[in-house]
Amino acid sequence: MIRSMKNRRTVRSYTEKPISESLLSELLETACRASNTGNMQLYSVIVTRDEEQKKKLAPTHFNQPQVMSAPVILTFCADIHRYDKWCQINGTESGTDNFLFYTNAAIDTTILTQSFCTAAEDEGLGICYLGTTLYNAKEIAEILNCPKGVIPICTISLGYPAETSDKQLRLPLNAIVHDERYQDFSNVRIKEVYKETDEDPTNKKFVRANKRRNLAEVFTQIRYAKKDSEFFSDKFLRLLKEDGFIK
Ligand SMILES: Cc1cc2nc3c(=O)[nH]c(=O)nc-3n(C[C@H](O)[C@H](O)[C@H](O)COP(=O)(O)O)c2cc1C
Repeated sequence: MIRSMKNRRTVRSYTEKPISESLLSELLETACRASNTGNMQLYSVIVTRDEEQKKKLAPTHFNQPQVMSAPVILTFCADIHRYDKWCQINGTESGTDNFLFYTNAAIDTTILTQSFCTAAEDEGLGICYLGTTLYNAKEIAEILNCPKGVIPICTISLGYPAETSDKQLRLPLNAIVHDERYQDFSNVRIKEVYKETDEDPTNKKFVRANKRRNLAEVFTQIRYAKKDSEFFSDKFLRLLKEDGFIK
């Protein structure tokens, strides 16, 4: 497992080999063994294999090619709805209409997703997360017939890899881990821990292609621009309001 996790990389191109129902069920059952808040399992997973459904989902994921080329798309949703119904038929109020419950459900959903990915990759499958889910959660919820209280959080494309992409760099562990207390970074230290990333030839090519001075500018001005983040933030917050998680 450690070898598999250390060598993994995101896969964005898949062969046509189908994924059997039995393997998919086995992986989902395994993932559901992950820790979750109070064992309430505040999540649901929607499996998309149907071409027509994929065609509807594709624009919500900005037409990333994986949506059409992967044999399976999985949408992992935070789900308060099922728990609410259980509470209701047992004559008690669920108390889920608050931000804490949304956060619990979103955390559980993310842990479930990543547990699924780890198991799938260990079985030789490839996955790619589609972060576009949070941008268009409302539209995705409509396509997938999600009732109020069921919010798409993570989507992955899944299939047998048709390519081996390059292994992406990670920051050195000492940029991430702190002994006992957080050791704040001096400017010199920041430069040190980002040195490999900043000097990576692929990243440098990316900077030149985007006519920017450095990688941080590519991130802040192109990939994750403030105005886009604010726009999609507002959109997502509106959905949380509609579903009663924030006032
Ligand atoms: C929440 C999340 C959203 C992501 N969204 C996308 C996406 O929309 N498209 C894509 O091609 N990759 C996406 N990725 C994959 C990341 O780009 C990838 O994990 C990162 O660049 C590191 O590469 P690696 O997984 O190959 O090590 C996403 C990953 C995560 C965890």
